[in-house]
Amino acid sequence: MDVKKLISWSKENYSKLPWRESRSVYSTWISEVMLQQTTVYTVKSRLNGFLEKFPSVNDLANATEEDLLIAWKGLGYYQRAKNLKKAAEYIRDELNGNFPEGACDLQKIPGIGPYTSSALVSIGMNQKALAVDANLERVLARYYGIKTYKGPKLKEELQDKFENNEILDVNISSWRDFNEAVMDLGREICQSRRADCLLCPIQKKCVARKMGNPLSIPVASPKVKKEKHDLDLIRLVSIRRGKLAVVKKQRGEWLAGQYELPTYILNSTDKALKQYPKINIPIYNELSFLKTGITKYKIRNFYKKCSISNMDNLPNMLSIEFVNIDEIKSKLSSASLKVLSAIENS
Ligand code: ADE
Repeated sequence: MDVKKLISWSKENYSKLPWRESRSVYSTWISEVMLQQTTVYTVKSRLNGFLEKFPSVNDLANATEEDLLIAWKGLGYYQRAKNLKKAAEYIRDELNGNFPEGACDLQKIPGIGPYTSSALVSIGMNQKALAVDANLERVLARYYGIKTYKGPKLKEELQDKFENNEILDVNISSWRDFNEAVMDLGREICQSRRADCLLCPIQKKCVARKMGNPLSIPVASPKVKKEKHDLDLIRLVSIRRGKLAVVKKQRGEWLAGQYELPTYILNSTDKALKQYPKINIPIYNELSFLKTGITKYKIRNFYKKCSISNMDNLPNMLSIEFVNIDEIKSKLSSASLKVLSAIENS
């Protein structure tokens, strides 16, 4: 593999990503956890703000869960933020606030698994390791022509082959640069449904390209169909003398700790869903809506301006408060913020 060419291609194009401009093991940990389920585009705009709020492991460990969840707002998969805090508490209490050096010790920290530990060793510490995320899995499987089913088995196989020097037995000047360059390649050129082989800096010896059908690797395992649901919500916007009607999300609910516009379920293909109370509005399809998603739900957020007196007649259960609109915005969920700006712009 022409590692030199690969790394210079990546450095030329992607060295300005914020987590590459200045780094510590701590900042690498935060960026890697963010990048696990959030796009590079979103993480780019959110990482530095988060690190300013929580500049060290101890700051993160000492933060309240509420502050942390607010800082994580918009990044999705909020369990990650809670797990970060648990891990930070462990590092503060059991490890004097320091990260251990090897992948095995790193994995003793609650919530740090094989991927994150390898990313910390390779990207954070610039030591030899392979951080096999979906990009590395795809690029290396194609490059070496490995036809094992995509998923944990293929990832483990790549890791084993790497440890036994069956792959990547070449001189690699920087493990950090190498891992990140392969991630860049997977994200930009060697994508799952599109491979721009002519632009690829390691095309020459790529087995999948030589076979003529790079997209056939990695091989998809027979599908277990994931449950998906459509969900129609109505979000009510009621403003009285600069104060907005909101509801604070409670522990155990979606987006706990954040605030939302008063929200009701209009219709859902999941009849068991209990996140919001139901409301009956016969021809809601005529209202404007915007789309969002959370876990297995595809959501249409219908919205409507409404006056306080109408709100008094609403069905049951929501604890609605009126709070200063400018002060609450930073704590409002992304979907509610989107609705608010749609209303403001309409
Ligand atoms: N995805 C996960 N980690 C990444 C990184 N360090 N750079 C780019 N994409 C990534």
